[in-house]
Amino acid sequence: MLSSLMGWVDARFPATKLWKEHLSEYYTPKNFNFWYYFGSLALLILVLQIVTGIFLTMNYKPDTALAFASVEYIMRDVEWGWLIRYLHSTGASAFFVVIYLHMFRGLMYGSYKQPRELVWIFGMLVYLALMAEAFMGYLLPWGQMSYWGAQVIISLFGALPIIGEGLSLWIRGDYVIADATLNRFFAFHVIAVPLVLIGLVVAHIIALHEVGSNNPDGVEIKKHKDEKGIPLDGIPFHPYYSVKDIVGVIVFMFIFSLVLFYAPEMGGWFLEKDNFVPADPLKTPEHIAPLWYFAPFYAILRAVPDKLMGVLTMGAAIVFLFLLPWLDRSPVKSIRYRGPYFRWALTLFVISFIGLAYLGTQGITDIKTILSRIFTVIYFAFFILMPFYSKLDKDKPVPERVTFK
Ligand code: HEM
Repeated sequence: MLSSLMGWVDARFPATKLWKEHLSEYYTPKNFNFWYYFGSLALLILVLQIVTGIFLTMNYKPDTALAFASVEYIMRDVEWGWLIRYLHSTGASAFFVVIYLHMFRGLMYGSYKQPRELVWIFGMLVYLALMAEAFMGYLLPWGQMSYWGAQVIISLFGALPIIGEGLSLWIRGDYVIADATLNRFFAFHVIAVPLVLIGLVVAHIIALHEVGSNNPDGVEIKKHKDEKGIPLDGIPFHPYYSVKDIVGVIVFMFIFSLVLFYAPEMGGWFLEKDNFVPADPLKTPEHIAPLWYFAPFYAILRAVPDKLMGVLTMGAAIVFLFLLPWLDRSPVKSIRYRGPYFRWALTLFVISFIGLAYLGTQGITDIKTILSRIFTVIYFAFFILMPFYSKLDKDKPVPERVTFK
């Protein structure tokens, strides 16, 4: 009965074809390691954010007079509201943890290189959409940091010549962050950006499945196929990796639950203390700082003395990430077979990124400004010098087939 039902469906919709193409006959390198869990985890969190977001929307009020109190109502009075809200707010930070690890894997194994440039570009667009989503979501609880954080970031647009002031006025819909801003951010946060995000994630995965996954050896498995055209080093995604990914999901949920139930605000790192105070347009908080996942870029902005140059430098920090596939001129993909220059460059890049993230959350002192400048120079040197050091590096011989014990 089931097969005749499937036959009926398949004659009208390519269900079996899609299942085979993307799961049971999608051949994946057999040597995936720990770093390959984060794509499926990102998908899981995307679903978690959408589902918890839907439930939050049932009790949240996008109105400056009601927003803060409606969030407190969710936390105190709505049945399980505290859990839904913390799943969503802690989920946002977990999303960025997972995405940064996912991107770092791409850097380590050269997954952005030919033929996966578009996988990377779609990924970067996802990253941009995710930042917009998080930024607009943070205004919604209408706390002090929601208000003043948005005030600082939107006023940055004012630094642009000629159009700047008009542009920031247009984004806010008022001369200061106000009800019009809250309403439009709500509309973008709950529907517009999530739609774009889902579309981009679908494009990201279609592009990946077109060219096939990279792997920790950076060897193309499609180069060696058997007589049926199946890669010799490939195994079907389902059931092998669908089952393996479940292990990742269980470990993730265990760690996520620990944070969720014991430290949902992570001492102010996931929800800032100032955001438990209602927004007050007449009282600037002593110390305005972004959440940790924006902090590297905020530190770059502050490291540059001129406001316009700071904004442009911050923009360039993202643009360079987009350009990676064309900056890297090494014939070798994986760090396993790369020479010392790339290894050193990547290590310094990671140190500078983490250093900037820390400095971006801290108040300004002379020594911290100097450190931010040094890390900013290292951040950009990683990209600007890449065409040279990746070309000159003493790479090691890459094996023909993947290594797997
Ligand atoms: C919502 C966000 C995202 C989701 C749901 C997602 C999902 C996935 C999935 C399921 C895979 C295949 C499994 C894996 O290789 O781990 C993958 C691969 C990949 N993703 Fe993402 N991704 C996201 C964001 C990003 C971002 C921001 C980047 C980088 C800018 C990126 C770059 C890549 C690359 C380069 C690959 C291929 C890796 C390889 O084959 O070695 N992704 N992604």
